Amino acid sequence: MAFQSKEDGERAALRLPVHIGIIMDGNGRWAKRRFLPRSAGHRAGASNFRTITRYCSQIGIKYLTVYAFSTENWNRPADEVGALLRLFKEYLEEALRDFMDENIRVRFIGDVSAFPEELRQLIHEVEEASSVKTGMVLNLAMNYGGRAEITRAARAFAQEVAAGRRRPEDLTEEGFAQYLYTGGQPDPDLIIRPSGEERQSNFLLWQGAYAEFVYFDILWPDFKTSDLDEAIRIYSTRQRRFGGV
Ligand code: FPP
Repeated sequence: MAFQSKEDGERAALRLPVHIGIIMDGNGRWAKRRFLPRSAGHRAGASNFRTITRYCSQIGIKYLTVYAFSTENWNRPADEVGALLRLFKEYLEEALRDFMDENIRVRFIGDVSAFPEELRQLIHEVEEASSVKTGMVLNLAMNYGGRAEITRAARAFAQEVAAGRRRPEDLTEEGFAQYLYTGGQPDPDLIIRPSGEERQSNFLLWQGAYAEFVYFDILWPDFKTSDLDEAIRIYSTRQRRFGGV
């Protein structure tokens, strides 16, 4: 492939992660600094989500998982939750038109059954419509929590055992991973968290066991494609030992 620019050439010299996870944090603080309602921060964050998703697809990332709504986010004030749900609806409608042109396959991870019927329907339509796509897989974590995901997987395996289809001693780590929402996908290599917080916050608990974490003191709506490049550069310099030496 001919390199289009110096940046393309530099990126090719780096080790590109196969799977990136992003905790899109800091929308509220971004809005507060501008004396705007928190919902304005989420709107700016959603717009940036589109920019960064497109960019990841363009530079050849194979899997991108973004944390859009956690199982704990229901505890926010009702008007903020309502604004987020409206934003999801709007963006999923757009995604139906938009990501479709870009060969991105959209999957949802999390308990989407808790969302209103209209949103569930859209989620279903986006998944169906993009299932034929062969490019980057975009996992949207919505009503997602790592502990809830692991509990759900354990329950599903226990049900198989109770039904006599599996034996407890047959369970392996690889086998268990198949019961997670991300079954069949590679684990994230790199997890990025902007906003200055340095926590995992129940995101990809099982899958992130060996992920490299890169934190930025930048709020999510201000996180640029050049910051993503920087995260990949940092990731490239890390030595991953997976418990070895
Ligand atoms: C965390 O910032 C962000 C969220 C809880 C929502 C993330 C959602 C988006 C970026 C919209 C994505 C849209 C789609 C369609 C996927 P925060 O509110 O916790 O920020 P704070 O820590 O500064 O208060």
